[in-house]
Amino acid sequence: MKRFAKAVAHSNIALAKYWGKADALRNLTAVPSLSLTLAALRTTTSVLFDPALDSDQFSLSGEAVSGRPLARVVKLLDAVRAAAGVVDRARVESVNDFPTAAGLASSASGFAALAMAATRAAGLEPSLPAVSALARAASASAARSVYGGYVALDARAECAERVCAGSAFPLEMLVAVTVSGPKATASTDGMGHTQSTSPYYSAWLEAAPHVYGEVRRAVEARDFAALGPAVEHSALLMHASMLAARPALIYFAPATLRVMDRVRGFRQAGGRAFFTMDAGPHVKVLVEPSAARELELELAKLEGVSSVLRSAAGPDAYWVEP
Ligand code: DP6
Repeated sequence: MKRFAKAVAHSNIALAKYWGKADALRNLTAVPSLSLTLAALRTTTSVLFDPALDSDQFSLSGEAVSGRPLARVVKLLDAVRAAAGVVDRARVESVNDFPTAAGLASSASGFAALAMAATRAAGLEPSLPAVSALARAASASAARSVYGGYVALDARAECAERVCAGSAFPLEMLVAVTVSGPKATASTDGMGHTQSTSPYYSAWLEAAPHVYGEVRRAVEARDFAALGPAVEHSALLMHASMLAARPALIYFAPATLRVMDRVRGFRQAGGRAFFTMDAGPHVKVLVEPSAARELELELAKLEGVSSVLRSAAGPDAYWVEP
């Protein structure tokens, strides 16, 4: 019997960063993190368990995927098959409605959508925490994409938890997409390298929970003036630990620094906006909706910025009826 399900999940950007694992085998994070789910970055994934298939197949935007990305998908499918008592192989089709080629993180929305679709297709009726735990085992940031709005993932936690809906604290995110350079080191590898070679990793482990606490309290108090500086500090602390790895992990491109500088200039002129960067050269800027358009136009003019995406907070992941 063929069994099919389809689901949508939105990407998220961490305001308090996760970098490093407490347990690499189970993929439990070493530090707590807190993110904002983004409406404009969406992945739609369908899963078909089909007795006629002899191996799992995975396509991303119509292109067949093999190697390590396929192996990560198969691992998640194996966990679902074990839980549901299903033996059939699956055809997985995933589409991002944002440019994957631009190197924007898609593993978060990708694994969240896959965990949603695969569990439903296998006949399970999973709760969102159970889907979040499954997604987390594949990619920790994906645990957070199961929920909309502001979402936390505690250190060593199995699953993420909702902090508050996006509408409770309506901020927007501008994503300044920088001209893509050579492919950046994948985050799983980058954090392993930082853990084993950076003398600043222990300082990061010590500081990250405090910054997370500041970010969380600011979100709970809807206090943008307190949130922004803590968000920048979290990103820069994380990048400091990467820069001190040997060899150094430098995710910044020249345009990354230009955007950071422009955001600081925007603040000096009285505006309120704060940047964050992940394991890539793009810069995400947290801004109040009233200032978003003006800053979007300014960032788009910068040399090396190929486009600027603008997004409000996104919803929980959901199933789409066929
Ligand atoms: C810099 O979730 O991609 O985006 O668990 O190894 O798949 P794995 O890592 P991943 O790492 C995300 C790192 C980050 C910060 C964050 O999203 O918290």
